[in-house]
Amino acid sequence: MMLRVWMCFMDCSLKTGGKRCYRVVVKLLFIGDIVGQPGRRAVKELLPKLRDAHGLQFVIANGENSAGGSGITPKTAEEIFSAGVDVITCGDHLWDQKEVVELLQNEKRFVRPLNYPAGVAGQGSVVVEKPGLPPVAVLNLQGRTFMPPLDNPFIAARAEVERLRRQTKIIFVDFHAEATSEKIAVARMLDGQVSAVVGTHTHVQTADEQIFPGGTAYLSDAGFTGPHESVLGREIEPIIQRFLTGLPQRFEVAKGRVMLHGVVVEIEEDGKATAIRRISESLP
Ligand SMILES: [Fe+2]
Ligand SMILES: [Fe+2]
Repeated sequence: MMLRVWMCFMDCSLKTGGKRCYRVVVKLLFIGDIVGQPGRRAVKELLPKLRDAHGLQFVIANGENSAGGSGITPKTAEEIFSAGVDVITCGDHLWDQKEVVELLQNEKRFVRPLNYPAGVAGQGSVVVEKPGLPPVAVLNLQGRTFMPPLDNPFIAARAEVERLRRQTKIIFVDFHAEATSEKIAVARMLDGQVSAVVGTHTHVQTADEQIFPGGTAYLSDAGFTGPHESVLGREIEPIIQRFLTGLPQRFEVAKGRVMLHGVVVEIEEDGKATAIRRISESLP
């Protein structure tokens, strides 16, 4: 035991110049937008393998497209929770299925974007206690650039993060937004105040993972979990037709080349991230 402590001290001292030596206490996986049945199947089949490979202790997933590609229902949420996900976040497809109201009213593990006006059903954040882990807070926000108008996410985030930090320093933020500038700006504003800010919504995984100077891990977009032989998870041809003609089309969920996209973040006991790694895993 002493040897391990000494080796840890030496290792950290080498990495940090002896400034600080904290222990990694949470390894979490965040899964990008789950699209339809193929996306739910990817989570169910790939999560056990990822849990073993990365020593995962906490799993968060964006479920806004889990029901037929649009919205979420209690049934699809239950399927995702049963696969081993601790908290589900959402986004602009929140209202696509009317049954979502049941989730908003009764499911503590479901969070919707915080920046809806006061009085709207549901919660924008949750603090989860799991045995052997410090409390983990999950906060969901939605952008306003090229998106439907909501309250200012910057102002909402500041106040909510201040409130959450009285309960825990381990805070994960899913910022569901279109514009990379808005995502980076929120993350820079929260640098040092939260453990990670990861973007969702575009369904395209970006390659800009980094840890900001204050210790906040960042990725502009986690990508999506579902069929990648597609346009963002939907069949290709109707979308091409829509762009060619401008006429309405049915956008069915595609089927081929199912992948899980996400990101693993390692967080120390002071809430700062020490590692961030993109995940892109195919179903066999
Ligand atoms: Fe979205
Ligand atoms: Fe989405």
